[in-house]
Amino acid sequence: MNKPQPRTTRLHKPKRTVSIIGTGSYVPEKVLTNAALEKLVDTSDEWIVSRTGIKERRVAAPEESTSDLASKAARAAIEKAGISAEEIDMIIIGTVTPDMAFPNTACLVQKQIGAKNAICFDLSAACSGFLFGLEIAQQFISSRTCDTILVIGADKLSGIVNWQDRNTCVLFGDGAGAAILQHRPGSHGIIHTTMGANGDYAEILHMPGGGSRMPLTKENIEQRPNTIHMNGKDVYKQAVTAMVNAAHEALETAGLQTKDLACVIPHQANLRIIEAIGSRLGLGPERVFCNLQHYGNTSAAAVAIALDEAARAGRMKRDDYILLVVFGGGLTWACSVIQW
Ligand SMILES: CC(C)(COP(=O)(O)OP(=O)(O)OC[C@H]1O[C@@H](n2cnc3c(N)ncnc32)[C@H](O)[C@@H]1OP(=O)(O)O)[C@@H](O)C(=O)NCCC(=O)NCCS
Repeated sequence: MNKPQPRTTRLHKPKRTVSIIGTGSYVPEKVLTNAALEKLVDTSDEWIVSRTGIKERRVAAPEESTSDLASKAARAAIEKAGISAEEIDMIIIGTVTPDMAFPNTACLVQKQIGAKNAICFDLSAACSGFLFGLEIAQQFISSRTCDTILVIGADKLSGIVNWQDRNTCVLFGDGAGAAILQHRPGSHGIIHTTMGANGDYAEILHMPGGGSRMPLTKENIEQRPNTIHMNGKDVYKQAVTAMVNAAHEALETAGLQTKDLACVIPHQANLRIIEAIGSRLGLGPERVFCNLQHYGNTSAAAVAIALDEAARAGRMKRDDYILLVVFGGGLTWACSVIQW
């Protein structure tokens, strides 16, 4: 396979700096351990931990939808930011598990949290959705089109996992993470985001059925096309290459080096991928945030939850440089360098 070629966003000089002024996250109460999965499929705690680092994941209740998870994360971020929901000009949700085809999940969150002045839309970039959303928000605020934007990464992957497929069902979980963005005077904020995509590899990680190409029918439903299909080995290779390249590119554009970073928050998909990124960037584990063991891969929510937990754990102080890097189906990838 060829290496993914980053098609990078141009460096722009922001008209005004854009800061993350509050974060929040939510994971469902129900914990699904590796031991519980051993009863569902032919797997073992030892296999899952040694291949992925995941020990448990959260699973939403049947009546709990993506917009419910997202609204809880949003409320926490709003409270942390010290703003009112009416101040929010835009809600962007990265998700591949919307409550329904339409209306979009952001409109449903708007209703739940009372953000009646917000423009609302979802974006589909799989696990890269939160960082794609951050960059869109950054552009809207920096150009003075909006003042306050709520960006959410939220997914209920338990609803699109084939619970009979041990290759995938052990990897994923449910959750949501949110951030409030505003201009704040001073130099801190989002310095640069690199984004990329490569549709040539669309089929190594996808949900083929349930859309316009393959509507669900009585005949095909048995094959479960409306669940995650993945070539794990190919995804692994592409993920490491794309995230390391994106990190180098974003750092170079930002005029920084890895030694300048207080904390790197990578997509939480697999501990071996996280360790490979850390090692290729020359970073020790103490500077690479990981909460994957508790939640598995929560897609667009993963880096958003990790950002919130890293902030609450004091892993970065004001003015520290941090780097967020993600990878997902599409293929898509992104890397943001931020002065906290
Ligand atoms: C999926 C992944 C963990 C598999 O790890 P791996 O090291 O490639 O797997 P291995 O080659 O060691 O093992 C594959 C074998 O384990 C088996 N296996 C797969 N899942 C298993 C499970 N849950 N329990 C036990 N055995 C399992 C396979 O059937 C295969 O058996 P076979 O060789 O008899 O066919 C790894 O490829 C990965 O993490 N890929 C990236 C996935 C990802 O991050 N996706 C989301 C990106 S946003």
